[in-house]
Amino acid sequence: MPRYSRIIATGGYLPERVLSNRDLEQMVDTSDEWIQARTGIRSRHLVSADEKTVDLAEAAARQALADAGLGPQDLDLIIVATTTPDQIFPSTACLLQARLGNRGSPAFDVQAVCTGFIYALACADQFIRSGAVRRALVVGAESMSRITDWTDRGTCILFGDGAGAVILEAADQPGLISTHLHADGAYADLLQVPGGLAEPAGKAVMEMQGNAVFRVAVRTLEEIVHETLAANDLAPGDIDWLVPHQANIRIIRATADKLNLPMERVVVTVDHHGNTSAASVPLALDDAARRGCFQPGQLLLLEAFGGGFTWGSALLRWG
Ligand code: ACO
Repeated sequence: MPRYSRIIATGGYLPERVLSNRDLEQMVDTSDEWIQARTGIRSRHLVSADEKTVDLAEAAARQALADAGLGPQDLDLIIVATTTPDQIFPSTACLLQARLGNRGSPAFDVQAVCTGFIYALACADQFIRSGAVRRALVVGAESMSRITDWTDRGTCILFGDGAGAVILEAADQPGLISTHLHADGAYADLLQVPGGLAEPAGKAVMEMQGNAVFRVAVRTLEEIVHETLAANDLAPGDIDWLVPHQANIRIIRATADKLNLPMERVVVTVDHHGNTSAASVPLALDDAARRGCFQPGQLLLLEAFGGGFTWGSALLRWG
């Protein structure tokens, strides 16, 4: 019998502290009007000084577990997508595993910046399809504020912190129908944190050529949408919901146009989350699921684009 994976529960967590566009006006030369017009962002949540990425991951994971009616010992695999781990090692997934009290299951991080959750979801799907595991916790968790240059108005207005989680379980029917992953490291210079162990003098904050990134993101997301539809013999109108990476409302609108989807069928959280990188897609999924947007049997298209460059999509049937 064919084996698939399906999402049985979601969770999400946003730190309490909210930074509005008006707050940013006091920090850099910008305006609420400019930020809203160019990005669609009004506010974002930020971690406090003593709040860690694993704290966000744990809150989202516990909500997903409660939603599923499962305990930590029911998980056979834990994957965390993050660009902002608290430590170089252990991985955030291992730190999360210890917090939850799960012992022995494989746990590892995936680092694909804003596409991280799609990469992690695709990994977990493969583990389940192969029969290696039955249940997986997949989390996207980020403290982007820790790698943000708060004097650079070109980037600091964009990002926020948070975590989203899903639980995947083996099923006879999909669930996840297909996943599509890509990367092109030739674009590394357009969006990066230059600092690291080999570059200790490099700045450990994001640098981005926003306009160039914007153009590649729009073109690449159009390509991945078409690739996903073609792989499944679908037409644009067959998609019920687009759950896009929340980087910029203008990028989201451009992708929705390619799918002939009205914005009422597009999950938008960028206005109050900002860009939470790997947490963005699972947070948007959880937000819409909790509002009761998705009906059983509906087709959802998840997509993301980010540093690397990396990009990817997942097509799934809800419920
Ligand atoms: N407030 C006011 N003015 C600003 C601001 C600001 N916060 N930031 C830039 N400007 C100015 C610029 O200096 C420029 O002024 P100039 O014409 O006098 O030189 C003008 O506004 C236009 O700047 P652009 O960079 O061309 O503006 P653009 O319309 O491209 O918007 C933005 C900038 C919002 C950053 C956009 O390019 C964008 O969203 N890029 C993509 C981001 C993204 O998707 N990243 C990928 C995922 S992130 C990840 O993977 C970590």
